[in-house]
Amino acid sequence: MQVPPTIRAVSSTGYEEVLPYFATVLRESGRDGVPHFTPNRDRDVYAPDWIERIRSRLALPLEHLGWMRLWVAFDGEVPVGNVDCRASEHAADTHRIQLGIAISRSHRGRGLGRRLMLHAIEWARANRFAWIDLGVFGGNRPARTLYETLGFKQTGYIEDRFRIDGERIDEVLMALDLRQ
Ligand SMILES: CC(C)(COP(=O)(O)OP(=O)(O)OC[C@H]1O[C@@H](n2cnc3c(N)ncnc32)[C@H](O)[C@@H]1OP(=O)(O)O)[C@@H](O)C(=O)NCCC(=O)NCCS
Repeated sequence: MQVPPTIRAVSSTGYEEVLPYFATVLRESGRDGVPHFTPNRDRDVYAPDWIERIRSRLALPLEHLGWMRLWVAFDGEVPVGNVDCRASEHAADTHRIQLGIAISRSHRGRGLGRRLMLHAIEWARANRFAWIDLGVFGGNRPARTLYETLGFKQTGYIEDRFRIDGERIDEVLMALDLRQ
């Protein structure tokens, strides 16, 4: 029987080990039948200033603006999915957090996205955050369906939010209310 991937928190010290995973998964956006899902497809994840920025955010306590937390799903020792939570930008909205998620193409459609989402939601509840916010590209049906089935509601719609490869991409803003 196949062992399901294990979900582990990745800290500032472990971040560089998962860079090849991020480089691969980002490059898939908008290619080979995958819908565009990020405005950062061509980011150089190996750039030292980018690595340092993420590592410093991962090291920040939750009381500081700018913190980030990252969980990666490992199939054996191979990273195959991630979810991250990030602080909002202002002292006045620290009750809200931002979420991002991706699964390796080889591991989509097997329930891992839902598992990672539930993991992050549980963490957010345990840490008493009130809302989880995210943005999803209009054409990204798999992600939108996943969020809807977890109770996320649409909070906004930004037409022509990004332009990638000459394509105009709308962004749907969604939020999960954790207050009840
Ligand atoms: C969106 C994504 C994270 C879903 O992860 P996944 O592991 O494939 O999803 P799961 O197998 O856990 O499926 C969970 C639910 O998502 C929805 N879903 C998944 N794939 C779908 C598809 N191809 N079409 C429609 N709905 C889909 C379904 O509601 C599914 O529940 P069900 O299996 O009970 O029907 C994954 O497709 C992915 O990484 N895509 C590229 C990156 C991305 O889009 N990130 C989100 C940016 S906002």
